[in-house]
Amino acid sequence: MNSESHTQRKTFAIISHPDAGKTTVTEKMLLLGKAIQMAGTVRAKKSSRQTTSDWMAMERERGISVTTSVMQFLYKETVINLLDTPGHADFSEDTYRTLTAVDSTIMVVDGAKGVEPRTRKLIEVCRMRDSPVITLVNKLDRESLDALSMIDHLENELNIECVPLTWPIGSGRSFLGIYRFDQDEIIQFKRGHGATLYEYPIIQGLHSDAAKEFLGLMYAEVAESIELVNEACNTFDIEAYQTGQQSPVFFGSALQNFGITELLDKFVLIAPGPQPRETDNGVIEPEGSTFSGFIFKIQANMNPKHRDRIAFLRICSGIYRKGMKMKHVRLGRELKVSDAVTFMAGSRAQVEEAYPGDIIGLHNHGTIRIGDSFTQGSDLHFRGIPSFAPELFRKVRVKDPTHAKRLKTGMLQLSEEGVTQIFNPVTKQDMIVGAIGVLQFELVVFRLQEEYGAECIFEPCDIFTVRWVSSEDTEKLTQFSNRVRNQLAVDGGGHLTFLATSRPNLQLVQERWPEIQFSAMRELATSE
Ligand code: G4P
Repeated sequence: MNSESHTQRKTFAIISHPDAGKTTVTEKMLLLGKAIQMAGTVRAKKSSRQTTSDWMAMERERGISVTTSVMQFLYKETVINLLDTPGHADFSEDTYRTLTAVDSTIMVVDGAKGVEPRTRKLIEVCRMRDSPVITLVNKLDRESLDALSMIDHLENELNIECVPLTWPIGSGRSFLGIYRFDQDEIIQFKRGHGATLYEYPIIQGLHSDAAKEFLGLMYAEVAESIELVNEACNTFDIEAYQTGQQSPVFFGSALQNFGITELLDKFVLIAPGPQPRETDNGVIEPEGSTFSGFIFKIQANMNPKHRDRIAFLRICSGIYRKGMKMKHVRLGRELKVSDAVTFMAGSRAQVEEAYPGDIIGLHNHGTIRIGDSFTQGSDLHFRGIPSFAPELFRKVRVKDPTHAKRLKTGMLQLSEEGVTQIFNPVTKQDMIVGAIGVLQFELVVFRLQEEYGAECIFEPCDIFTVRWVSSEDTEKLTQFSNRVRNQLAVDGGGHLTFLATSRPNLQLVQERWPEIQFSAMRELATSE
């Protein structure tokens, strides 16, 4: 295959705490990639998470949410695939899974607030996978934490070596610009150019006369602090970055489209291209000529009435060509794919060809699940696509008992989409829904009614958490199952789970049954 086709691809996601600036950074990147004419296109989406009802109204416009899930654009001869992560914290599981489909991430933190809880959680996942992370300290046009303290804070919070590649000169009202270490240049900040491709003036050399004139009375202090940073901070090491041991740090203001060019310029140089992926059948290299990929996300399509969904497939090796046949490994079925969609910065178009690192959308009529593998070669299952134990639980019931079947079908499909998880207790007819945030329950009610015609009610239930249970010792597992039968359930994928009523209840059972593994995370195996 043409090796250039994949080495020049960079697939990444932006992670941040809500309001740190993820949408704004995305928008400016698309602007820099000339994928949008004026900044503002992505912003329309933002209102989608303001309130539940707004969010649902936007979800009706399914086209918008599907197309903004993956944005492909070209920057400096590099094809960039930017994968969106859900704006609302309730959908964090979707975000975790998106992280399995990227090769690196950019973390945006608010310059005044530093690392916030949601970012901390997401970064833990990146660390687990040794995924490379570039950090952008945003909103420097507002009063921000002192940059040295920020680096300290980032290192402590994220437990990762940080290397500033740009350095802010002041912040807020006194924000003068950034210093770019590798070029020894100052990029001057000017307000009011955020919506255009404005080229900010550059001063060559920190010790130049122009720099002295520009910085005036602040010159000595600024030059001294930059020299100090140069000496005291770690030096950038691309290997340390690419193996997730070091994070390069940039400073800027996304709103003013300032500092983003420097970030993107470096990103295309240092971010890893498509990485090898582990399967139960060995490691798949992106250079491999046999097509393979996995599903990391399923999303309802434009027309909810048709229950058509788009399954997002990350290509791991080989080339997708329109009309090609591939094997859906879990079902052992050949599939001819002639209508996959691709995502050229916001608009859907049919792809003729796609390469490792690219995402294609397969039309799914309920047969494809998250975690499924597709290949043209021998059977394999990609590893590492997680499902986490939910934190909130409700019993679900239909208002009209004659609609029980609709409820069952709907719940199963929504759980396959990853919207929520379902648990069927072994000894009761109940259906328990598990979610990470309350908004997910509201979404389920809405979609069950809209798409499946089942009006449902949620009732509280006394479940504190669930654990997936397994054991090498099958006899012990049977003993355990008989003993705690009333607290066992089967999840949507047919896996045995223990429903704990409280933390002490879980601890007690774990202590009593040391031969049983209680897992808060399950890999979505594709062979179920
Ligand atoms: P998110 O996707 O991470 O949730 O954040 P988003 O980009 O939507 O930004 C959150 C708010 O922060 C927005 O303001 C946005 O304009 C602002 N913002 C983003 N980057 C910067 C920056 O560099 N400097 C400053 N000063 N503000 C920034 P908002 O008032 O919530 O929305 P809007 O009215 O501006 O659309």
